[in-house]
Amino acid sequence: MADVWTPDSWRTKTLHQVPSYPDQAKLAQAEESLSLSPPLVFAGEARRLKSALAKVADGKAFLLQGGDCAESFAEFRANNIRDTFRVMLQMAVVLTYGAAMPVVKVGRMAGQFAKPRSADNETIDGVTLPSYRGDIINGIEFTPEARIPDPDRMLRAYNQSASTLNLLRAFAQGGYADLHKVHQWTLGCVEGSLQGKLYQEMANRLSETLAFMEACGMTSETTPQIRETEFFTSHEALLLPYEQALTRVDSTSGDWYDCSAHMLWIGERTRQLDAGHVEFLRGVKNPIGFKAGPGMSGDDLLKLIDALNPENEPGRLTVITRMGAEKIEEKLPALVRHIQREGRSVVWSCDPMHANTVKATTGYKTREFDRILAEVRAFFAVHKAEGTHAGGVHFEMTGQDVTECVGGMRAVTEARLGDRYHTHCDPRLNANQALELAFLIADQLKTERLNGQAMQRVIAG
Ligand code: PEP
Ligand code: CO
Repeated sequence: MADVWTPDSWRTKTLHQVPSYPDQAKLAQAEESLSLSPPLVFAGEARRLKSALAKVADGKAFLLQGGDCAESFAEFRANNIRDTFRVMLQMAVVLTYGAAMPVVKVGRMAGQFAKPRSADNETIDGVTLPSYRGDIINGIEFTPEARIPDPDRMLRAYNQSASTLNLLRAFAQGGYADLHKVHQWTLGCVEGSLQGKLYQEMANRLSETLAFMEACGMTSETTPQIRETEFFTSHEALLLPYEQALTRVDSTSGDWYDCSAHMLWIGERTRQLDAGHVEFLRGVKNPIGFKAGPGMSGDDLLKLIDALNPENEPGRLTVITRMGAEKIEEKLPALVRHIQREGRSVVWSCDPMHANTVKATTGYKTREFDRILAEVRAFFAVHKAEGTHAGGVHFEMTGQDVTECVGGMRAVTEARLGDRYHTHCDPRLNANQALELAFLIADQLKTERLNGQAMQRVIAG
């Protein structure tokens, strides 16, 4: 790996999954225009997220990362943004209660557009066209014109991200996320379900606690932690021309930050040690992550950690494992032990979505709720056995009442997948399924906490 990093040093490396734009002059223009546009996030915010994640790495907080598989131009609505934000707030409250620790909220939002694909082309009824790579690159319509990579889409994605982020900031800090509103975050589709009832019970307890705190003088006016929340953004740093154009020197530290989001991650298909994506992300100071599938060895993992976090800075690196429900128990322990032995600080997070994707008999790409849950449970069990902190989860989810993943208490059946299947890429959990998972994870965290306390008592004699 070259020692000297520059925002464009990735260009000298092998590149995977980056589209070839037929109109290079238009590409250069779009990059220029983006590089003159304001950054979407401020370096100081990325540093705050890094310190919050350092607490996760240290076992003192939990990471909740979630949102669309792929944001799209067509689904860009204030209500969709609000509803996903709302479910995340609900999940975070449930998790905070269970874990009795802070929950770091990070959306796959305001920039999650580019998609890696397993095949360069797609064939339908004998017609072969380039694959859809996300709205920031080309169009989903199955026509030759739509599938041509168009650099101007980067500008539209940037503008949509700016508006989305603006609304998220308003929700997080403008009163919507005030804990006194905990009852109002319930979505219509959740009302009446068992999760909805469990949530209302918990919200009632929370309201009582808030009333008690108010009597002690802690109100929304006096206590910002009650009035507002911190919500961060993240996406896969896949489309490097876009990421480079939004990479800026922070005037306070002199360091480079990718100001397209607070956190960026490298996908399973682009984490080759000597290739462009690792080269790019090693030089920016944001908190970053990478996906680790079942094929990853302890040595590979350590080499990536060395390349991306040579100073072993806590909070810098999140390892997002996505092993699949069948393989996690066999694969994860060796990785965890290896990293423990080498004394590296990472956040261990579980993406139970991407290795549990199947094709339903009806042709829809789907995921079974039970397998998602099985991977999460196994993730907790492995970390418990290894004495490490199950630090977080990474979900593809939405606040819309979609029918994309099968199962859950209000079971979506295979036959009903077609009812409301709206995703532009992978199947997402709907609001009920996401909340159900949050309750199940809260139980695991509570057990982890009580075991920890019991252990402390034994140690103290
Ligand atoms: C994703 O997170 O949408 C994704 C493509 O994941 P992975 O890189 O793990 O396949
Ligand atoms: Co996905």
